[in-house]
Amino acid sequence: MGLLFLLASFILCQLVLSSLAIFPKDQSLALVEFNKTHVVDKSLASFNCVFYEAQKSYPKTSSWNMNKDCCSWDGIICDEMTGHVIELDLSCSQLVGKIDSNSSLFQLFHLQRLNLSGNNFSNSHISPKFGRFSSLTYLDLSHSSFSGQIPSEISHLSKLQSLGLSGGDFPSFLDAELRLPSHDFKLLLQNLTQLRELDLSDVNISSTIPLNFSSHLTTLRLEGTGLKGIIPESIFHLSNLQVLDLDGNNELSGNFPKTKWNSSSSLVELYLGKVNFYGNLLPESLGYLTSLQLLVLGSCNLSGPIPTSLWNLTHIEYLILENNHLEGSLPLFSSGLQNLFQLSLSNNSLNGELPFWIFSLPSLGVLHLRFNNFSG
Ligand SMILES: *[C@@H]1O[C@H](CO)[C@@H](O)[C@H](O)[C@H]1NC(C)=O
Ligand SMILES: *[C@@H]1O[C@H](CO)[C@@H](O)[C@H](O)[C@H]1NC(C)=O
Ligand SMILES: *[C@@H]1O[C@H](CO)[C@@H](O)[C@H](O)[C@H]1NC(C)=O
Ligand SMILES: *[C@@H]1O[C@H](CO)[C@@H](O)[C@H](O)[C@H]1NC(C)=O
Ligand SMILES: *[C@@H]1O[C@H](CO)[C@@H](O)[C@H](O)[C@H]1NC(C)=O
Ligand SMILES: *[C@@H]1O[C@H](CO)[C@@H](O)[C@H](O)[C@H]1NC(C)=O
Ligand SMILES: *[C@@H]1O[C@H](CO)[C@@H](O)[C@H](O)[C@H]1NC(C)=O
Ligand SMILES: *[C@@H]1O[C@H](CO)[C@@H](O)[C@H](O)[C@H]1NC(C)=O
Ligand SMILES: *[C@@H]1O[C@H](CO)[C@@H](O)[C@H](O)[C@H]1NC(C)=O
Ligand SMILES: *[C@@H]1O[C@H](CO)[C@@H](O)[C@H](O)[C@H]1NC(C)=O
Ligand SMILES: *[C@@H]1O[C@H](CO)[C@@H](O)[C@H](O)[C@H]1NC(C)=O
Repeated sequence: MGLLFLLASFILCQLVLSSLAIFPKDQSLALVEFNKTHVVDKSLASFNCVFYEAQKSYPKTSSWNMNKDCCSWDGIICDEMTGHVIELDLSCSQLVGKIDSNSSLFQLFHLQRLNLSGNNFSNSHISPKFGRFSSLTYLDLSHSSFSGQIPSEISHLSKLQSLGLSGGDFPSFLDAELRLPSHDFKLLLQNLTQLRELDLSDVNISSTIPLNFSSHLTTLRLEGTGLKGIIPESIFHLSNLQVLDLDGNNELSGNFPKTKWNSSSSLVELYLGKVNFYGNLLPESLGYLTSLQLLVLGSCNLSGPIPTSLWNLTHIEYLILENNHLEGSLPLFSSGLQNLFQLSLSNNSLNGELPFWIFSLPSLGVLHLRFNNFSG
């Protein structure tokens, strides 16, 4: 009995020891294997990584050294207690090569943050195995030449707070198109209830906008996704939303909220260029969006006057209202606009004298006024 107990505890002990000792070795092998399947191409610095101008592109894997603990390699962070790799950040690392379903990447079960953006994964499909990283809170596969259908397994990642799958390779003629079926788009929004940031720009979604968005969302980027139908009003009232980008969806129609915006709105950047707002007047309540720094409403089929409340948006830096049918004159006096850098009003039907305050705006760098009926 005693011997059996001893034997049992010995085996148990070995099991525990081996799972602690061998696992970190496995993960460094997995990383070396991953490293072998990709080459570094320095010319990528000026291609896919161009989207992250601030970020210096360099090959992180070049400094990976077999003789050092993989937890000390560039781009890798391990859990201090368990030794598991919990973060892999190989963004803008000039990597070229495929990521197949048999990639050793998928052996890093404990990953919490994974950033592979700004590389060239050579039209790889996003493997359904990405859906098995059940601890992931951040996943960024943007601008990395992935293509094909985004697997529905992504919506298994219920802890995700940030998801970036935006396409938009540069130059655009190399574009590797990602597609997200309408049904999977809905599933993703329903299941990823912790999402704060979602960027699916340039993914071909081509569906209507579902109603169920996480109230945690702070950034929602759906530029150029081929969305159709009518923008649900609820999207304008998401209580934590700071960035809403629906730009370039010319099959999308909008109505400004019937419920008025009020000064409790957190919106900082609002991109609605090319969305059809036919028959809409700019609402006076836009002036309540006092946190707004950027408002893009170019080519939106808007008519009527510019409400005077707009000239009170004290934080606004970019105000783009070009290519509409706006009419009337600009107010003679403006109290805000101390931060305005770009004002684009060209190609409307504005008239009257240009008010003097425009030329004394302290931060103005770009002013577009042509194709209007201004006098004086
Ligand atoms: C990883 O790959 C680079 C070449 O891209 C090589 O210089 C480096 O030694 C490799 N490191 C490991 C640990 O495999
Ligand atoms: C991924 O890396 C890019 C470039 O370094 C960075 O701009 C981006 O914010 C990162 N994504 C996440 C989710 O942290
Ligand atoms: C992984 O799969 C691809 C085909 O999908 C194959 O070409 C490659 O040899 C496989 N690699 C390994 C290590 O099995
Ligand atoms: C990405 O890699 C593929 C080959 O795998 C190549 O044809 C393509 O030109 C590369 N794209 C860029 C932007 O370098
Ligand atoms: C939704 O998330 C739960 C975990 O919260 C998961 O069990 C389920 O498989 C997910 N459903 C889909 C369809 O991804
Ligand atoms: C999006 O995908 C659909 C098919 O799913 C296709 O008909 C359409 O042309 C694609 N849109 C773009 C902009 O490529
Ligand atoms: C969408 O959200 C509403 C509440 O905001 C809820 O009643 C409804 O069940 C949700 N629909 C789906 C399909 O999850
Ligand atoms: C502002 O609008 C939200 C809904 O969008 C509402 O819940 C809140 O009570 C409003 N606040 C004020 C001061 O009107
Ligand atoms: C403006 O809206 C009308 C009515 O929906 C439409 O016929 C027209 O094509 C739109 N113009 C632009 C430039 O979108
Ligand atoms: C705009 O600011 C002026 C001067 O501060 C103020 O008199 C006016 O009521 C404001 N208008 C709106 C719509 O907030
Ligand atoms: C002016 O805007 C209209 C849409 O309102 C557009 O169709 C036209 O091409 C624009 N003209 C110029 C010169 O940009």
